[in-house]
Amino acid sequence: MTDDGRAYGRQAGSWDPELVEVGAGTPAGELLRRYWHPVAQATEATATPREIRVLGEDLILFRTASGEPGLVTPRCCHRGTTLFYGRVEDDGIRCPYHGWLFATDGRCLDQPCEPDRGRNLDRYRQPWYPVVEYHGLVFAYLGPADRQPAFPRYDIFEDLADDEEVVIIDHFAFGGPSEAPCNWFQTHENSMDAYHVFILHNAISGPQFDPRLEIWPDVSWQRHDWGVSCSQDRRLPDGTTLHRVTETRMPTIRVIPTPTLSVLGKTNNMSWALPIDDTTTRVYALVRKPRSDAPQGLPVYGEGKSWFDLSPEEHQHYPGDYETQVGQGPMTLHSEERLATSDRGVSLVRLQFKDQVRVVAAGGDPVGTSFDADGPPIELIAGNYIIDGETDD
Ligand code: FES
Ligand SMILES: [Fe+2]
Repeated sequence: MTDDGRAYGRQAGSWDPELVEVGAGTPAGELLRRYWHPVAQATEATATPREIRVLGEDLILFRTASGEPGLVTPRCCHRGTTLFYGRVEDDGIRCPYHGWLFATDGRCLDQPCEPDRGRNLDRYRQPWYPVVEYHGLVFAYLGPADRQPAFPRYDIFEDLADDEEVVIIDHFAFGGPSEAPCNWFQTHENSMDAYHVFILHNAISGPQFDPRLEIWPDVSWQRHDWGVSCSQDRRLPDGTTLHRVTETRMPTIRVIPTPTLSVLGKTNNMSWALPIDDTTTRVYALVRKPRSDAPQGLPVYGEGKSWFDLSPEEHQHYPGDYETQVGQGPMTLHSEERLATSDRGVSLVRLQFKDQVRVVAAGGDPVGTSFDADGPPIELIAGNYIIDGETDD
């Protein structure tokens, strides 16, 4: 039979489970469970229980009347109805069926139908996960108790002046809804895909970012013990160099200094990909800014439209990150890819993630975790740096 490359008879493709599967017990899912993840906005934790999904697990988020957020499994440990219909009280959430009351750490505080309202309350515990609030986001740790890392803080959000604030940017990358129907890893590795900026965001869709980003750069990637960074150097017409650094941090963090170049110097923002499940991803982003400034410029398409104003046909004329990453399918087929020279950054992100999957499978602690609760904040390196002359790397 002649193989002239036509589509007939091709094999079904497959994905690499060590990159994409997020469920409990899967190798990648166990790695992800060693880190804190943003799971909701703090305003979504209220006295009305909310169903959320994190790493393929269905959970109930609530906030007690005393202000403490809680995250528990839906199925009541008594006889299994859902706490989605529960009543949130001062100290916890009360199951609607027989009234057992659970604290935010799952302890059972009351069993109103039992003798003495429960003589052995310590024997019962609703499955729960710890949460931390950080700049308007709720983070959760879904891993083993004895391997729980300290909650990481980041230098760009420390020491705010009175006229500064940290706010949530609620959209997908630079345009699109914050929740996308595709696997998280294909949204994540995009941040080390430096070359798509010129093709997708410039040549195909017209300039979506600052015109200085249209200048072809020297690109290099660096592997660190916390992730991968990418340097892009552009000689500017005035003889200076724009040294733009982006970074990914294990496991789901990406730091993309604003591509509108409205902020020079160190990045003012960072984001996380939350794997909701294998085929759904939510992006959470925080930005530090003067209170008086608008949060961040978004690409303008066509005649001054935002992503949400585009017709289906206009999305075809002006594709962006959302279209191309969701366009890779619910879970991209790694067996069908042809990685090339320009994909080195993508390869580095994948290799490091898979290395760490194996570290955890072998009983170790993955990179980017610390058990020192009093440790310093993590220092990001990403930014849009203007340098006189040329850079060394
Ligand atoms: S099922 Fe929840 S208290 Fe009975
Ligand atoms: Fe992009």
